[in-house]
Amino acid sequence: MWNMFLLETLVSVLLGFALFSLIDAFGRKRKNREPPLIKGWIPYIGKALEFGRDPSRFLAALKKEYGDIFTVRIAGKYITFIMNPNLYPAVIKHGKQLDFHEFSDQVSPRTFGYPCIRSSKFPGLDDQIQRSYQLLKGENLNTLAQSMVENLELVLQQDHHTQGSQWRTDELYGFCCRVMFEATFMTLYGQPSQGSRHTHIAALTEKFKKFDAVLPLLIAGVPISLLGAAKAAREELKRFLLPQRLASMLAPSRFIQDRVNMFEQYHMLGDLDKAGHHFTILWASVGNTVPATFWAVYHLLMQPEALDAVREEIRCVLLPSQQEVGSNVVPILTRERMDRLLLLDSAVSESLRLSAASMNIRVAQEDFTLLLAPDLPVDLRQGDIVALYPQIMHMDPEIFEEPQSYRFDRFVEDGQQKRKFGKSDQKLTYCCMPFGSGSTKCPGRYLAMLEIKQFLCLILLCFEVELLDPQKQVGLDQSRAGLGILLPDTHVSFRYRCRPM
Ligand code: HEM
Repeated sequence: MWNMFLLETLVSVLLGFALFSLIDAFGRKRKNREPPLIKGWIPYIGKALEFGRDPSRFLAALKKEYGDIFTVRIAGKYITFIMNPNLYPAVIKHGKQLDFHEFSDQVSPRTFGYPCIRSSKFPGLDDQIQRSYQLLKGENLNTLAQSMVENLELVLQQDHHTQGSQWRTDELYGFCCRVMFEATFMTLYGQPSQGSRHTHIAALTEKFKKFDAVLPLLIAGVPISLLGAAKAAREELKRFLLPQRLASMLAPSRFIQDRVNMFEQYHMLGDLDKAGHHFTILWASVGNTVPATFWAVYHLLMQPEALDAVREEIRCVLLPSQQEVGSNVVPILTRERMDRLLLLDSAVSESLRLSAASMNIRVAQEDFTLLLAPDLPVDLRQGDIVALYPQIMHMDPEIFEEPQSYRFDRFVEDGQQKRKFGKSDQKLTYCCMPFGSGSTKCPGRYLAMLEIKQFLCLILLCFEVELLDPQKQVGLDQSRAGLGILLPDTHVSFRYRCRPM
Protein backbone atom coordinates (compact mmCIF):
# COMPACT_ATOMS: atom_id res chain seq x y z
CA MET A 1 0.00 0.00 0.00
CA TRP A 2 2.74 2.42 1.08
CA ASN A 3 4.84 1.43 -1.96
CA MET A 4 1.87 2.02 -4.24
CA PHE A 5 1.47 5.50 -2.80
CA LEU A 6 5.18 6.25 -3.29
CA LEU A 7 5.05 4.97 -6.86
CA GLU A 8 2.00 7.07 -7.60
CA THR A 9 3.70 10.16 -6.20
CA LEU A 10 6.88 9.48 -8.17
CA VAL A 11 4.92 9.01 -11.41
CA SER A 12 3.01 12.29 -10.87
CA VAL A 13 6.23 14.18 -10.12
CA LEU A 14 7.91 12.75 -13.24
CA LEU A 15 4.85 13.50 -15.39
CA GLY A 16 4.70 17.02 -13.98
CA PHE A 17 8.39 17.52 -14.67
CA ALA A 18 8.05 16.16 -18.22
CA LEU A 19 5.10 18.50 -18.86
CA PHE A 20 7.00 21.46 -17.43
CA SER A 21 10.01 20.59 -19.62
CA LEU A 22 7.77 20.30 -22.67
CA ILE A 23 6.23 23.73 -22.05
CA ASP A 24 9.71 25.01 -21.34
CA ALA A 25 11.02 23.65 -24.65
CA PHE A 26 8.49 25.89 -26.40
CA GLY A 27 9.39 28.78 -24.07
CA ARG A 28 11.74 31.68 -24.68
CA LYS A 29 13.92 31.47 -27.78
CA ARG A 30 16.76 33.81 -28.62
CA LYS A 31 15.84 36.46 -31.22
CA ASN A 32 18.11 38.04 -33.76
CA ARG A 33 19.80 40.90 -31.86
CA GLU A 34 19.44 39.38 -28.40
CA PRO A 35 22.52 38.12 -26.56
CA PRO A 36 23.32 34.37 -26.44
CA LEU A 37 20.74 32.67 -24.19
CA ILE A 38 21.75 30.11 -21.58
CA LYS A 39 18.66 28.49 -20.10
CA GLY A 40 20.06 25.39 -18.38
CA TRP A 41 18.10 22.14 -18.51
CA ILE A 42 16.06 22.52 -15.30
CA PRO A 43 12.81 24.34 -16.06
CA TYR A 44 12.38 27.65 -14.22
CA ILE A 45 15.50 27.14 -12.04
CA GLY A 46 17.79 27.34 -15.07
CA LYS A 47 21.37 27.98 -13.92
CA ALA A 48 20.48 29.18 -10.39
CA LEU A 49 22.37 26.39 -8.62
CA GLU A 50 25.63 26.86 -10.53
CA PHE A 51 25.38 30.64 -10.16
CA GLY A 52 24.68 30.36 -6.42
CA ARG A 53 27.69 28.11 -5.79
CA ASP A 54 30.29 30.63 -6.99
CA PRO A 55 28.93 33.46 -9.17
CA SER A 56 32.31 34.83 -10.08
CA ARG A 57 33.70 31.53 -11.35
CA PHE A 58 30.43 30.69 -13.11
CA LEU A 59 30.31 34.04 -14.94
CA ALA A 60 34.00 33.91 -15.85
CA ALA A 61 33.42 30.51 -17.49
CA LEU A 62 30.42 31.81 -19.46
CA LYS A 63 32.41 34.85 -20.57
CA LYS A 64 35.06 32.55 -22.00
CA GLU A 65 32.43 30.64 -23.95
CA TYR A 66 29.99 33.38 -25.00
CA GLY A 67 31.90 36.66 -24.84
CA ASP A 68 31.11 39.92 -23.06
CA ILE A 69 27.31 39.85 -23.18
CA PHE A 70 24.98 36.91 -22.51
CA THR A 71 21.60 36.19 -20.95
CA VAL A 72 21.21 33.51 -18.29
CA ARG A 73 18.00 32.11 -16.83
CA ILE A 74 18.30 32.16 -13.05
CA ALA A 75 15.30 31.16 -10.91
CA GLY A 76 12.76 32.21 -13.53
CA LYS A 77 14.44 35.55 -14.32
CA TYR A 78 16.35 36.32 -17.47
CA ILE A 79 19.51 38.19 -16.53
CA THR A 80 21.72 39.79 -19.16
CA PHE A 81 25.26 40.13 -17.84
CA ILE A 82 27.54 42.81 -19.25
CA MET A 83 31.05 41.58 -18.56
CA ASN A 84 33.26 44.19 -20.23
CA PRO A 85 33.81 47.22 -17.95
CA ASN A 86 34.37 49.43 -21.01
CA LEU A 87 30.64 48.93 -21.63
CA TYR A 88 29.51 49.74 -18.07
CA PRO A 89 28.89 53.49 -18.69
CA ALA A 90 26.24 52.71 -21.31
CA VAL A 91 24.27 50.70 -18.72
CA ILE A 92 24.84 53.02 -15.77
CA LYS A 93 23.78 56.15 -17.66
CA HIS A 94 20.71 54.46 -19.15
CA GLY A 95 18.42 55.56 -16.30
CA LYS A 96 14.99 55.75 -17.90
CA GLN A 97 14.49 52.36 -19.50
CA LEU A 98 16.65 50.53 -16.96
CA ASP A 99 15.26 50.98 -13.49
CA PHE A 100 16.76 49.86 -10.16
CA HIS A 101 13.83 50.43 -7.85
CA GLU A 102 11.55 47.85 -9.37
CA PHE A 103 13.94 45.21 -8.04
CA SER A 104 14.57 46.78 -4.63
CA ASP A 105 10.82 47.41 -4.19
CA GLN A 106 10.26 43.66 -4.38
CA VAL A 107 13.17 42.66 -2.18
CA SER A 108 13.51 45.27 0.61
CA PRO A 109 9.95 45.23 2.03
CA ARG A 110 9.86 41.46 2.48
CA THR A 111 13.44 41.36 3.81
CA PHE A 112 13.10 44.12 6.41
CA GLY A 113 9.37 43.91 7.01
CA TYR A 114 7.47 47.00 5.82
CA PRO A 115 4.95 47.77 3.05
CA CYS A 116 6.16 48.88 -0.37
CA ILE A 117 6.32 52.67 -0.25
CA ARG A 118 6.23 53.41 -3.96
CA SER A 119 2.46 53.25 -4.09
CA SER A 120 -0.34 55.82 -4.14
CA LYS A 121 -0.81 55.21 -0.39
CA PHE A 122 2.43 57.07 0.34
CA PRO A 123 2.63 59.97 -2.14
CA GLY A 124 6.06 61.61 -2.32
CA LEU A 125 7.64 59.38 0.33
CA ASP A 126 10.17 57.81 -1.99
CA ASP A 127 11.39 61.24 -3.15
CA GLN A 128 11.73 62.38 0.45
CA ILE A 129 13.72 59.26 1.31
CA GLN A 130 16.07 59.91 -1.60
CA ARG A 131 16.47 63.55 -0.47
CA SER A 132 17.32 62.44 3.08
CA TYR A 133 20.50 60.82 1.74
CA GLN A 134 21.92 64.32 1.28
CA LEU A 135 22.26 64.37 5.07
CA LEU A 136 25.05 61.79 4.79
CA LYS A 137 27.26 64.28 2.93
CA GLY A 138 28.83 67.73 3.21
CA GLU A 139 28.63 69.56 6.55
CA ASN A 140 26.53 66.78 8.07
CA LEU A 141 29.30 64.32 7.33
CA ASN A 142 31.66 66.39 9.51
CA THR A 143 29.23 66.10 12.41
CA LEU A 144 28.74 62.39 11.81
CA ALA A 145 32.50 61.85 11.65
CA GLN A 146 33.04 63.72 14.91
CA SER A 147 30.32 61.79 16.67
CA MET A 148 31.59 58.46 15.29
CA VAL A 149 35.12 58.97 16.54
CA GLU A 150 33.88 59.89 20.00
CA ASN A 151 31.74 56.76 20.10
CA LEU A 152 34.59 54.56 18.85
CA GLU A 153 36.85 55.96 21.57
CA LEU A 154 34.20 55.38 24.20
CA VAL A 155 33.64 51.74 23.27
CA LEU A 156 37.34 50.94 22.82
CA GLN A 157 38.29 52.69 26.04
CA GLN A 158 35.59 51.10 28.18
CA ASP A 159 35.61 47.56 26.76
CA HIS A 160 39.07 46.99 25.38
CA HIS A 161 41.46 48.93 27.53
CA THR A 162 44.18 46.62 28.86
CA GLN A 163 46.37 47.11 31.88
CA GLY A 164 50.17 47.23 31.57
CA SER A 165 51.68 44.59 29.30
CA GLN A 166 48.67 42.30 29.50
CA TRP A 167 47.56 40.78 26.15
CA ARG A 168 43.91 39.97 25.43
CA THR A 169 42.84 37.50 22.76
CA ASP A 170 39.67 37.74 20.73
CA GLU A 171 38.12 36.71 17.41
CA LEU A 172 38.71 39.45 14.84
CA TYR A 173 35.33 39.51 13.05
CA GLY A 174 33.40 39.49 16.32
CA PHE A 175 35.60 42.29 17.68
CA CYS A 176 35.07 44.49 14.60
CA CYS A 177 31.34 43.74 14.68
CA ARG A 178 30.84 44.63 18.35
CA VAL A 179 32.82 47.87 18.17
CA MET A 180 31.49 49.11 14.82
CA PHE A 181 27.89 48.10 15.51
CA GLU A 182 27.67 49.98 18.79
CA ALA A 183 29.59 53.06 17.64
CA THR A 184 27.55 53.33 14.42
CA PHE A 185 24.30 52.76 16.27
CA MET A 186 24.99 55.60 18.69
CA THR A 187 26.24 57.88 15.91
CA LEU A 188 23.06 57.48 13.88
CA TYR A 189 20.31 56.88 16.43
CA GLY A 190 21.72 58.68 19.47
CA GLN A 191 22.71 57.97 23.06
CA PRO A 192 20.49 56.46 25.74
CA SER A 193 18.62 58.88 27.99
CA GLN A 194 20.46 57.43 30.98
CA GLY A 195 24.09 56.37 31.14
CA SER A 196 26.62 56.63 28.34
CA ARG A 197 25.81 53.31 26.60
CA HIS A 198 22.70 51.39 25.57
CA THR A 199 22.24 48.55 28.05
CA HIS A 200 21.01 45.92 25.57
CA ILE A 201 23.55 46.58 22.85
CA ALA A 202 25.39 43.24 23.19
CA ALA A 203 22.13 41.30 22.83
CA LEU A 204 21.15 43.53 19.93
CA THR A 205 24.44 42.86 18.16
CA GLU A 206 23.84 39.11 18.49
CA LYS A 207 20.32 39.48 17.06
CA PHE A 208 21.79 41.49 14.22
CA LYS A 209 24.30 38.72 13.45
CA LYS A 210 21.47 36.14 13.45
CA PHE A 211 19.45 38.20 11.00
CA ASP A 212 22.48 38.99 8.85
CA ALA A 213 23.31 35.28 8.53
CA VAL A 214 19.98 34.53 6.79
CA LEU A 215 19.91 37.67 4.63
CA PRO A 216 20.86 35.85 1.39
CA LEU A 217 17.95 33.43 1.89
CA LEU A 218 15.51 36.26 2.59
CA ILE A 219 16.62 38.09 -0.52
CA ALA A 220 16.23 34.89 -2.50
CA GLY A 221 12.57 34.88 -1.39
CA VAL A 222 12.55 32.30 1.42
CA PRO A 223 9.78 33.36 3.87
CA ILE A 224 11.20 34.52 7.19
CA SER A 225 8.83 32.21 9.08
CA LEU A 226 10.84 29.27 7.70
CA LEU A 227 14.13 30.68 8.97
CA GLY A 228 14.05 29.69 12.63
CA ALA A 229 15.14 32.36 15.09
CA ALA A 230 15.65 35.00 12.37
CA LYS A 231 12.04 36.21 12.56
CA ALA A 232 12.21 36.81 16.31
CA ALA A 233 15.61 38.51 15.87
CA ARG A 234 14.18 40.85 13.22
CA GLU A 235 11.15 41.71 15.34
CA GLU A 236 13.32 42.45 18.35
CA LEU A 237 15.64 44.69 16.35
CA LYS A 238 12.63 46.52 14.96
CA ARG A 239 11.07 46.94 18.39
CA PHE A 240 14.26 48.68 19.50
CA LEU A 241 13.69 51.20 16.71
CA LEU A 242 10.02 51.97 17.34
CA PRO A 243 9.22 55.72 17.14
CA GLN A 244 8.59 56.10 20.90
CA ARG A 245 11.91 54.43 21.65
CA LEU A 246 13.82 56.58 19.16
CA ALA A 247 12.18 59.68 20.64
CA SER A 248 13.81 58.88 23.99
CA MET A 249 17.35 58.78 22.57
CA LEU A 250 19.59 61.80 22.95
CA ALA A 251 21.34 63.65 20.12
CA PRO A 252 20.36 61.46 17.14
CA SER A 253 21.96 62.32 13.79
CA ARG A 254 20.12 64.81 11.59
CA PHE A 255 19.77 62.02 9.03
CA ILE A 256 17.72 59.84 11.39
CA GLN A 257 15.83 62.76 12.91
CA ASP A 258 14.81 63.85 9.42
CA ARG A 259 13.53 60.35 8.63
CA VAL A 260 11.60 60.16 11.92
CA ASN A 261 9.82 63.45 11.07
CA MET A 262 9.24 62.33 7.49
CA PHE A 263 7.51 59.06 8.49
CA GLU A 264 5.35 60.93 11.01
CA GLN A 265 3.62 62.65 8.07
CA TYR A 266 2.33 59.30 6.76
CA HIS A 267 -0.50 58.05 8.96
CA MET A 268 -0.89 54.94 6.81
CA LEU A 269 2.49 53.76 8.14
CA GLY A 270 2.16 51.88 11.40
CA ASP A 271 4.81 52.12 14.10
CA LEU A 272 6.28 48.74 13.17
CA ASP A 273 6.44 49.79 9.51
CA LYS A 274 8.39 52.90 10.50
CA ALA A 275 10.66 50.75 12.63
CA GLY A 276 11.14 48.49 9.57
CA HIS A 277 12.50 51.47 7.63
CA HIS A 278 14.85 52.41 10.46
CA PHE A 279 15.98 48.81 10.59
CA THR A 280 16.79 48.90 6.85
CA ILE A 281 19.11 51.83 7.51
CA LEU A 282 20.66 50.05 10.47
CA TRP A 283 21.44 47.06 8.25
CA ALA A 284 22.69 49.28 5.38
CA SER A 285 24.99 51.13 7.76
CA VAL A 286 26.67 48.12 9.33
CA GLY A 287 25.91 45.07 7.13
CA ASN A 288 28.77 45.89 4.76
CA THR A 289 30.85 48.17 6.96
CA VAL A 290 31.61 45.43 9.49
CA PRO A 291 33.07 42.92 7.00
CA ALA A 292 34.85 45.77 5.19
CA THR A 293 36.45 46.78 8.50
CA PHE A 294 37.45 43.20 9.18
CA TRP A 295 39.24 42.87 5.81
CA ALA A 296 40.94 46.24 6.16
CA VAL A 297 42.45 45.20 9.51
CA TYR A 298 43.15 41.62 8.49
CA HIS A 299 45.13 42.49 5.34
CA LEU A 300 47.25 45.02 7.19
CA LEU A 301 48.01 42.55 9.96
CA MET A 302 49.02 39.98 7.36
CA GLN A 303 51.57 42.31 5.75
CA PRO A 304 54.02 43.84 8.26
CA GLU A 305 55.55 46.29 5.75
CA ALA A 306 52.08 47.60 4.84
CA LEU A 307 51.19 47.88 8.52
CA ASP A 308 54.38 49.84 9.29
CA ALA A 309 53.93 52.22 6.35
CA VAL A 310 50.28 52.94 7.14
CA ARG A 311 50.92 53.34 10.86
CA GLU A 312 53.80 55.73 10.14
CA GLU A 313 51.61 57.83 7.84
CA ILE A 314 48.85 57.98 10.46
CA ARG A 315 51.36 58.98 13.12
CA CYS A 316 52.87 61.76 10.99
CA VAL A 317 49.55 63.25 9.93
CA LEU A 318 47.48 62.86 13.07
CA LEU A 319 49.84 63.49 15.92
CA PRO A 320 50.68 67.14 16.53
CA SER A 321 54.26 66.36 17.54
CA GLN A 322 56.32 63.22 17.29
CA GLN A 323 54.77 61.92 20.47
CA GLU A 324 53.96 58.25 20.87
CA VAL A 325 50.32 57.43 21.31
CA GLY A 326 49.23 55.38 24.24
CA SER A 327 45.92 54.69 25.86
CA ASN A 328 45.64 58.22 27.27
CA VAL A 329 46.52 60.26 24.20
CA VAL A 330 43.74 60.78 21.72
CA PRO A 331 44.85 61.42 18.15
CA ILE A 332 43.21 64.29 16.30
CA LEU A 333 40.86 62.68 13.81
CA THR A 334 39.18 65.57 12.01
CA ARG A 335 37.83 64.90 8.55
CA GLU A 336 40.35 67.30 7.02
CA ARG A 337 43.26 65.35 8.56
CA MET A 338 41.76 62.00 7.64
CA ASP A 339 41.61 63.14 4.00
CA ARG A 340 45.40 63.51 4.02
CA LEU A 341 45.93 59.82 4.80
CA LEU A 342 46.55 58.60 1.26
CA LEU A 343 48.16 55.27 2.12
CA LEU A 344 45.41 54.44 4.58
CA ASP A 345 42.77 55.33 1.99
CA SER A 346 44.52 53.14 -0.57
CA ALA A 347 44.82 50.23 1.89
CA VAL A 348 41.07 50.37 2.62
CA SER A 349 40.20 50.65 -1.10
CA GLU A 350 42.43 47.67 -1.84
CA SER A 351 40.73 45.50 0.77
CA LEU A 352 37.34 46.58 -0.64
CA ARG A 353 38.50 45.62 -4.14
CA LEU A 354 39.36 42.15 -2.88
CA SER A 355 36.20 41.50 -0.87
CA ALA A 356 33.36 43.36 -2.64
CA ALA A 357 30.92 41.22 -4.59
CA SER A 358 27.80 43.26 -5.10
CA MET A 359 25.76 42.82 -8.23
CA ASN A 360 24.43 46.01 -9.83
CA ILE A 361 20.92 45.33 -11.08
CA ARG A 362 18.59 47.23 -13.42
CA VAL A 363 15.21 46.07 -14.80
CA ALA A 364 14.14 46.79 -18.42
CA GLN A 365 10.93 48.85 -18.29
CA GLU A 366 9.94 48.02 -21.88
CA ASP A 367 11.18 46.13 -24.93
CA PHE A 368 14.01 48.30 -26.25
CA THR A 369 17.47 48.31 -27.84
CA LEU A 370 20.32 49.06 -25.48
CA LEU A 371 23.14 50.68 -27.42
CA LEU A 372 26.22 49.48 -25.54
CA ALA A 373 28.55 51.01 -28.15
CA PRO A 374 27.87 52.66 -31.54
CA ASP A 375 28.13 49.26 -33.26
CA LEU A 376 26.82 47.15 -30.40
CA PRO A 377 23.02 47.19 -30.13
CA VAL A 378 21.42 44.62 -27.80
CA ASP A 379 17.70 43.92 -27.75
CA LEU A 380 16.13 43.53 -24.33
CA ARG A 381 12.62 42.48 -23.33
CA GLN A 382 10.46 44.18 -20.72
CA GLY A 383 11.13 42.66 -17.28
CA ASP A 384 14.59 41.37 -18.21
CA ILE A 385 17.32 42.17 -15.71
CA VAL A 386 20.58 43.76 -16.78
CA ALA A 387 23.40 43.06 -14.36
CA LEU A 388 26.97 44.19 -13.80
CA TYR A 389 29.17 41.99 -11.66
CA PRO A 390 32.14 44.23 -10.76
CA GLN A 391 33.98 41.54 -8.80
CA ILE A 392 35.12 40.11 -12.14
CA MET A 393 36.50 43.55 -13.07
CA HIS A 394 38.22 43.84 -9.68
CA MET A 395 40.04 40.58 -10.45
CA ASP A 396 40.93 41.36 -14.07
CA PRO A 397 44.75 41.14 -14.54
CA GLU A 398 44.53 43.54 -17.50
CA ILE A 399 43.27 46.22 -15.09
CA PHE A 400 44.95 45.32 -11.79
CA GLU A 401 48.37 43.69 -11.98
CA GLU A 402 48.43 40.47 -9.94
CA PRO A 403 44.82 41.01 -8.94
CA GLN A 404 44.79 38.27 -6.29
CA SER A 405 47.48 39.97 -4.23
CA TYR A 406 46.89 42.65 -1.65
CA ARG A 407 48.95 45.74 -2.51
CA PHE A 408 48.24 48.35 0.10
CA ASP A 409 49.56 51.22 -2.07
CA ARG A 410 47.84 50.22 -5.32
CA PHE A 411 45.67 53.35 -5.27
CA VAL A 412 48.49 55.85 -4.77
CA GLU A 413 50.71 57.24 -7.53
CA ASP A 414 53.29 60.05 -7.32
CA GLY A 415 52.02 61.12 -3.92
CA GLN A 416 48.44 61.43 -5.20
CA GLN A 417 45.34 59.27 -5.06
CA LYS A 418 45.24 56.98 -8.11
CA ARG A 419 41.72 56.37 -9.41
CA LYS A 420 42.31 55.81 -13.12
CA PHE A 421 42.98 52.34 -14.42
CA GLY A 422 42.68 51.05 -17.97
CA LYS A 423 41.80 48.00 -20.02
CA SER A 424 42.61 47.30 -23.68
CA ASP A 425 44.36 50.70 -23.97
CA GLN A 426 41.18 52.46 -22.89
CA LYS A 427 40.85 54.41 -19.64
CA LEU A 428 38.02 53.00 -17.56
CA THR A 429 35.29 55.30 -16.21
CA TYR A 430 34.55 52.71 -13.52
CA CYS A 431 37.25 50.42 -12.21
CA CYS A 432 36.47 49.82 -8.54
CA MET A 433 32.81 49.61 -7.58
CA PRO A 434 32.26 48.32 -4.03
CA PHE A 435 29.56 50.95 -3.54
CA GLY A 436 27.52 50.27 -6.68
CA SER A 437 27.01 52.74 -9.47
CA GLY A 438 25.03 55.59 -10.98
CA SER A 439 21.88 56.94 -9.40
CA THR A 440 21.69 54.11 -6.86
CA LYS A 441 25.29 54.35 -5.72
CA CYS A 442 25.55 53.92 -1.95
CA PRO A 443 24.71 57.25 -0.29
CA GLY A 444 26.62 56.18 2.83
CA ARG A 445 29.93 55.62 1.05
CA TYR A 446 31.68 58.71 2.46
CA LEU A 447 30.61 57.84 5.99
CA ALA A 448 31.62 54.20 5.50
CA MET A 449 35.14 55.10 4.35
CA LEU A 450 35.56 57.56 7.21
CA GLU A 451 34.35 55.10 9.84
CA ILE A 452 36.65 52.33 8.66
CA LYS A 453 39.61 54.70 8.57
CA GLN A 454 38.82 56.09 12.03
CA PHE A 455 38.62 52.57 13.40
CA LEU A 456 42.00 51.71 11.85
CA CYS A 457 43.63 54.89 13.15
CA LEU A 458 42.52 54.21 16.70
CA ILE A 459 43.41 50.52 16.61
CA LEU A 460 46.83 51.05 15.04
CA LEU A 461 47.82 54.00 17.19
CA CYS A 462 46.42 52.99 20.56
CA PHE A 463 46.95 49.22 20.47
CA GLU A 464 49.54 46.65 19.58
CA VAL A 465 47.72 44.07 17.50
CA GLU A 466 48.86 40.65 16.18
CA LEU A 467 47.27 37.70 14.45
CA LEU A 468 47.64 34.52 16.48
CA ASP A 469 48.00 32.26 13.45
CA PRO A 470 49.19 34.29 10.43
CA GLN A 471 49.72 31.07 8.44
CA LYS A 472 46.02 30.19 8.55
CA GLN A 473 44.28 30.38 5.16
CA VAL A 474 41.34 32.78 5.23
CA GLY A 475 39.08 32.90 2.18
CA LEU A 476 35.85 34.58 1.10
CA ASP A 477 32.58 33.00 2.17
CA GLN A 478 30.49 33.00 -1.04
CA SER A 479 27.09 32.84 0.65
CA ARG A 480 26.61 36.61 0.28
CA ALA A 481 27.98 36.79 -3.25
CA GLY A 482 26.03 39.38 -5.21
CA LEU A 483 24.92 41.25 -2.08
CA GLY A 484 27.94 43.23 -0.92
CA ILE A 485 31.14 42.67 1.04
CA LEU A 486 31.86 38.98 1.54
CA LEU A 487 32.54 37.63 5.02
CA PRO A 488 35.61 35.56 5.95
CA ASP A 489 35.07 31.81 5.66
CA THR A 490 36.76 31.01 8.96
CA HIS A 491 37.46 32.48 12.39
CA VAL A 492 40.57 34.60 12.82
CA SER A 493 42.07 34.88 16.30
CA PHE A 494 44.19 37.84 17.31
CA ARG A 495 45.61 39.45 20.41
CA TYR A 496 45.94 43.08 21.45
CA ARG A 497 47.10 45.31 24.26
CA CYS A 498 47.35 49.03 24.84
CA ARG A 499 50.50 50.63 23.47
CA PRO A 500 52.90 51.60 26.23
CA MET A 501 53.27 55.35 26.79
C1 HEM B 1 31.76 49.44 3.24
C2 HEM B 1 30.53 49.82 3.51
C3 HEM B 1 29.41 49.88 2.51
C4 HEM B 1 29.30 49.28 1.29
C5 HEM B 1 30.30 48.37 0.58
C6 HEM B 1 28.01 49.67 0.74
C7 HEM B 1 27.54 49.25 -0.50
C8 HEM B 1 26.29 49.57 -0.99
C9 HEM B 1 25.78 49.12 -2.27
C10 HEM B 1 26.54 48.22 -3.25
C11 HEM B 1 24.54 49.63 -2.41
C12 HEM B 1 23.59 49.41 -3.58
C13 HEM B 1 23.96 50.34 -4.73
C14 HEM B 1 23.43 49.90 -6.09
O1 HEM B 1 22.68 48.95 -6.18
O2 HEM B 1 23.84 50.50 -7.07
C15 HEM B 1 24.24 50.41 -1.22
C16 HEM B 1 23.05 51.06 -0.98
C17 HEM B 1 22.80 51.80 0.15
N1 HEM B 1 23.68 52.07 1.19
FE1 HEM B 1 25.56 51.38 1.39
N2 HEM B 1 27.37 50.49 1.63
C18 HEM B 1 28.20 50.66 2.73
C19 HEM B 1 27.95 51.44 3.84
C20 HEM B 1 26.84 52.22 4.04
C21 HEM B 1 26.64 53.11 5.16
C22 HEM B 1 27.63 53.39 6.29
C23 HEM B 1 25.41 53.65 5.02
C24 HEM B 1 24.83 54.67 5.98
C25 HEM B 1 23.61 54.86 6.24
C26 HEM B 1 24.82 53.10 3.79
C27 HEM B 1 23.56 53.39 3.28
C28 HEM B 1 23.04 52.87 2.11
C29 HEM B 1 21.68 53.11 1.66
C30 HEM B 1 20.62 53.94 2.39
C31 HEM B 1 21.52 52.45 0.42
C32 HEM B 1 20.26 52.37 -0.46
C33 HEM B 1 20.27 53.49 -1.48
C34 HEM B 1 18.99 53.53 -2.34
O3 HEM B 1 18.03 52.84 -2.05
O4 HEM B 1 18.99 54.27 -3.34
N3 HEM B 1 25.74 52.25 3.23
N4 HEM B 1 25.33 50.37 -0.38
